[in-house]
Parts: sequence; structure tokens; C-alpha cells
Amino acid sequence: MSEQFDAVDVIRTKRDKQRLSEGQIDWVIDAYTRGVVAEEQMSALAMAIFLNGMDRQEIARWTAAMIASGERMDFSSLSRPTADKHSTGGVGDKITLPLAPLVAACGVAVPQLSGRGLGHTGGTLDKLEAIPGWQAALSNEAMLRQLEDIGAVICAAGSGLAPADKKLYALRDVTGTVEAIPLIASSIMSKKIAEGTGALVLDVKVGSGAFMKDVDSARELATTMVGLGTDAGVNTVALLTNMEVPLGLTAGNGLEVRESVEVLEGGGPPDVVELTVELAREMLKGAGRTEIDPADALADGRAMDAWRAMISAQGGDPDAPLPTAKETHEVLAPADGVLTKLDAYQVGVAAWRLGAGRARKEDAVQAAAGVEMHAKPGASVRAGEKLLTLHTDTPERFGRALEALDGAYTIAPEGSRPDLLPLIIDRIAE
Ligand code: URA
Repeated sequence: MSEQFDAVDVIRTKRDKQRLSEGQIDWVIDAYTRGVVAEEQMSALAMAIFLNGMDRQEIARWTAAMIASGERMDFSSLSRPTADKHSTGGVGDKITLPLAPLVAACGVAVPQLSGRGLGHTGGTLDKLEAIPGWQAALSNEAMLRQLEDIGAVICAAGSGLAPADKKLYALRDVTGTVEAIPLIASSIMSKKIAEGTGALVLDVKVGSGAFMKDVDSARELATTMVGLGTDAGVNTVALLTNMEVPLGLTAGNGLEVRESVEVLEGGGPPDVVELTVELAREMLKGAGRTEIDPADALADGRAMDAWRAMISAQGGDPDAPLPTAKETHEVLAPADGVLTKLDAYQVGVAAWRLGAGRARKEDAVQAAAGVEMHAKPGASVRAGEKLLTLHTDTPERFGRALEALDGAYTIAPEGSRPDLLPLIIDRIAE
């Protein structure tokens, strides 16, 4: 096939701070997916975009081209509306686990195509795989059936969805071009739009444990994604939420499943409960079901029933004991006082080094590894009390995990107060 454009011209255009034309964008994404544009050429273009940005129209076209590189799912045959949630990733972020069955219990179907963790943030599939028997892979037909019967599916995204993004994301990961707002926004939204959900709630994390370290850049990312979703006909809103501190009291796969089940039982840490219910409200609102309060479905056990059905449908045993780590190590409070800081990024790195996460895509994870927190900022602690428990099957990892935790927490004199952003910082809608 003769090629309509030249990769070097496209790279030069963006290098020289010009707008890419629709034709250039369509061609470069398609040619890259076909292997005609070489990896080194796409990495130069990604760096030019990282440095010089793209405007709203370029980002929209880039996103559309990535969607067009693969299949689009269609849930229009379902008898209920659909809503999905996407988090930009954080430490202890297990919200999808209680949220999907909660929203399903309120009559809205949740097609959650999830990923695995890379680096210090966990992946939803890794968490659910801690449940004996649970399977991440589902055919499109099985997914549709489960959505109709139970209302919630959490499964692996098939390789057919936005293949251009799969290739480009792997390239960005090794070329220092992940943290570009146009590239993050188009990457996330191409998959979510191709997935075919009717409503979408974005949980854009802000803080040390997130991609976006400050509120301004998180707001820019959220606004960009909300614009892309809205233009594509998906009812999209975003919440900016705190990721300076880990969510809940656990970071690690099986530990996070345990905490999610506690939430479904009507207990669990207040921040996990609050964010789960708030995101559920937004999803229901986006799907046009404002008459239902998800807090009721959590309290009366309907969400738990949906969880059990969802786990069983994918081969999991909701009653099986979760794996426990072979070894634990306790970190004790060094002084009396108030815990004023517990750094999300450092806790995430510690959990990862204990075996909860992977350094390369092909690495295995430990189901029971992770960090359990016994206090959160604002709590009073006494010298010698347990602050953290580290869990792993491979105790030689404790040393590196403890190094990661160096300076991760502060105990200030009695009467001090932590200076933290609120859990829900802002809501962005068009
Ligand atoms: N998650 C994605 O899917 N893509 C990005 O670029 C960043 C986070």
C-alpha cells in the first residue's frame, strides 16, 4: 500500500509546535498499529507531544483514531442502562470491588474492563485473582450474559479494544512519555468510549500516590477527559479525589479484597465507604436513576448479594478463605502523638516491594503481600503501638519495603492536625 503521509513530516510538524491535521493523526495512528510507523518514530512523536501538547480538537481526533484501530462494544441490547467508573490509579484503591456490585444492585449495569497493576499502583484484576477460582478472562458473549443476569462484570479488556493504545502505552512506559495530559486522556478515553458505556465517572486522583501530583494538573486532565467523553456522546463527569494518603487501611491484593468485603458487609473504613457511595451516586445519576440511594443498597445487603453472584459467575468462591502471607513484620509508632502524614506513594512502593505489584508486565504477584495500616492521619497513637503490618511470603523483601517507608509517616505532638486535602476535592462536569 502506498502511504499518504510521511512519519518524519508528522514528527516535524509537532516538533515545530504546529497543529497536527486530522489526516496526519488518522494516518499516523493507523500506520503505527500496522507497523509501518516504526517504534522510534512514534517515540519521537510522543516526546514532541509531551513537550508541545495538543489542543482539544487534536486530542479528540487522536482519541477517535485510537478507537478506530479496534472493535467497539455494544450494550444496547441490555435491558438496563450502563455506567462505568475509571480511576487514574492510586494506592489502596479497591473502590471498583464494592462499587460495581453496589451500582448493579441499584439497577444499572456496570461493564468494568480492568487492568493489572504496574509499578506502585495496584490493578483490579490482580486483587480479584486473590479469590480462589476467580477468572479474569471472559468472552464478549459471556460478558453480555453476566451483565444482563447480574448487572456487574469486572474482567480483562480483550486485545481487540483500542490496540493502538496498547502498543503506544507500552512505548510511552519506556520512553518517559507517560505523564503527558493529551496522551493520558486519549489513552484512557479511547478504551472507555470503545467499551461502549452510556455513562462514565472518572476518579482522578491527586497527590503523591497518583500520576497527577497537584490539583491544577489533575483538573486539567479531568477537564480534558470530560470533554472527550461528552463529545463522544458518553455522559461523563469527574471527581478529583485525594491520593496523598492511601485509601482505606490496606494496600495489597488479598488484603484489599478483605476490606472490600467488609464494606459490602456494612463496615469498612469511612473513606472507602464515602468514596464508594459518592461514585455510585454519580454513576446512577449519569445513567438517569436518581431515585435510588446506593447507601440503602449497601446497608440492606443487596450489594453483597450482587458481589457474591458476580464472583461466583466468574468461577470464584466468595466463601473461600483469602490467602494469608507466610510472614509479617510490624512497624511500631516511635512516639506518642498524632499521625499527621502517611505518604501514599511510599506505602504503595512498600506494598509493591513486598510482592503485591510487578516491575515488568510478565511478573507474577503475591496474593497475600501488602501493607496493613492501623492508623490514618488525624489519629492519636502511643509509642510502641502498631502503626503498620507488612505482609509477604518472601521475608527477604522486608528490608527494601522498610527502606521505602523511611520518612513515610510523621507523628506530631498531641493537639496537632494533619494538613490534608479533603477526600473529594472537586467535581468536574460540562
Ligand atoms: N492509564 C491508561 O490507561 N493510560 C494512561 O496513559 C495512563 C493511565
